[in-house]
Amino acid sequence: MCGIVGVVGNVDTKNILINGLCRLEYRGYDSAGIFLAEDNQLYKAVGPLKKLQEEVPADAAGTLGIGHTRWATHGKATLENTHPHTSQSGRFVLVHNGVIENYRQLKETLLADDIFYGQTDSEVAVHLVEYFVNQGFTVPAAFLQTLNKIEGSYAFGLIDTQTPDTLYAAKNKSPLLVGLGGDFSLIASDALAVLDQTKNFLEIKDGEMVILQKDSVEIFDLAGQPVARQPFVTQLDANDLDKGAYPYYMIKEIAEQPSVVRKIIQQYLIEENYVAPALKEVIHEADHLYFVACGTSWHASRVGAKYFEEMAHIPATALLASEAGYRMPLLSARPVFIFLSQSGETADSRQVLVRVKELGYPTITLTNVLGSTLARESDFALPLLAGPEIAVASTKAYTAQVTVLACLAQQFARQNEKFDLAHELSLVATAMDTVITEQETLNLLVADYLTEQRNAFYIGRYLDYEVSLEAALKLKEISYVQAEGFAAGELKHGTIALIEEGTPVFAVITDPVTASHTRGNMEEVKSRGARLFSLVSESLANDDDTFVLPNVHPLLTPILSIVPAQLIAYYATLQRGLDVDKPRNLAKSVTVE
Ligand code: M6R
Repeated sequence: MCGIVGVVGNVDTKNILINGLCRLEYRGYDSAGIFLAEDNQLYKAVGPLKKLQEEVPADAAGTLGIGHTRWATHGKATLENTHPHTSQSGRFVLVHNGVIENYRQLKETLLADDIFYGQTDSEVAVHLVEYFVNQGFTVPAAFLQTLNKIEGSYAFGLIDTQTPDTLYAAKNKSPLLVGLGGDFSLIASDALAVLDQTKNFLEIKDGEMVILQKDSVEIFDLAGQPVARQPFVTQLDANDLDKGAYPYYMIKEIAEQPSVVRKIIQQYLIEENYVAPALKEVIHEADHLYFVACGTSWHASRVGAKYFEEMAHIPATALLASEAGYRMPLLSARPVFIFLSQSGETADSRQVLVRVKELGYPTITLTNVLGSTLARESDFALPLLAGPEIAVASTKAYTAQVTVLACLAQQFARQNEKFDLAHELSLVATAMDTVITEQETLNLLVADYLTEQRNAFYIGRYLDYEVSLEAALKLKEISYVQAEGFAAGELKHGTIALIEEGTPVFAVITDPVTASHTRGNMEEVKSRGARLFSLVSESLANDDDTFVLPNVHPLLTPILSIVPAQLIAYYATLQRGLDVDKPRNLAKSVTVE
């Protein structure tokens, strides 16, 4: 979603802002803008960043600036709503990520005489700073007053045009980091935006304000008291952000999956690095595990819940965060909550985390970003080890989540039910390699299946049903084919009415127990005109199956069978002439509820 970059110091401010925003592009946005303090110039554009680049003169420069990519929430994607926003007199300039919940009330009370140019909640914040300065407060005090008046989530970057050596920032529930460069200081909503400038960062916590100058950073709490904080060096590598020889991030990330699985085997099973005794103790004490997640991570949670029930005999339920945030189910006596999130910043999941902490239950987060909000706020955090995932459609994070959950569940299996998971997962990694080398076959097989069709189905039973949910999401979010993942046996209870001549139906069959039943469902849709595409494990395959998967352990098939489905979505999208990495309307990290 929205992205922020800001910088003060003796550096190429314009390029740091523009390049930083380009690195945040993958998160999704509709418009972008930058402000350069020396020129006192605001540049904005609706649409792709290259439009903004065209707006900014080549010789624009300065030692202080802020930039923003906006994913529209309050108000359409127009220039008026594009950040940075200015105060009534133009003295203050601000960028904001998050949602100011009481913005209407502030507009109607303290700011009743002000003129607003757009419809955003954010504009209120910069007007408020000026309001308090006009009341006689110093700028830092006025900013603190503003933060204390605002209800909701925010990451702010603020410039006072009268002090061009100072950048102000603040954070509450929206991500923001400070970067340290020696003779410059930065702010960014994601370290990836400025990794080419520095690897040294300072964490900013909720309810903190920061004053940055080129060679100093001061942090304060909302009462104005100074806070001490040690910097850290990020492990992220700028090279991980390159597409390398791949045409799109999505295909690069699909191809990385076998090595991610191998890394998890090494770190979780061979070196036993992450699952601390205290965490084991917490899960041992649980009488029910509640997974909380959204989208792809929720699909992975559903597989994980089955792993814990099958392998460890611990009851488990996967909750949709956006639902659980408002109505928690009736909980067991000793619940433990496990949050799954690639980004670690998903607002829906975080709101459940806040509630669960209020209730006093133990919390564990599995995430790809260990410094993220969910990771920091949970009792325990486990890394996915997938490396940065840039494509909006999640691929390697899903397989990493399922793999880590298998490793975790196995720890709680009865001794006589344990199997050699490291060995079985290494077979999965090899099988993934095989499927990936067959990507051109899938490209050809899928040609004309999905170029014209508006609808498609993925069907399967048990774990194959779980994979069908994720496979359908992959297809719909990037190719815009309305795809449904369906429990194969449930189609005949109503939805089969949608099957007509040529409707593509993809059947996933890896489960020996339910294979013959799913085959029966394939016949039912075929006789009503469906165009079948079967993805079947070798040991269950017939001569007329479309794509055969190498055999792997029956519990681990979701880590493998999703790979051809990811490739099908990828190629179907290319065949439809669409951008696989940046689908319309979507954001990589969904930081609003
Ligand atoms: O970062 P998270 O895993 O918490 O994100 C949750 C969903 O927004 C995410 O999985 C989304 O569904 C994927 N981009 C789909 O590919």
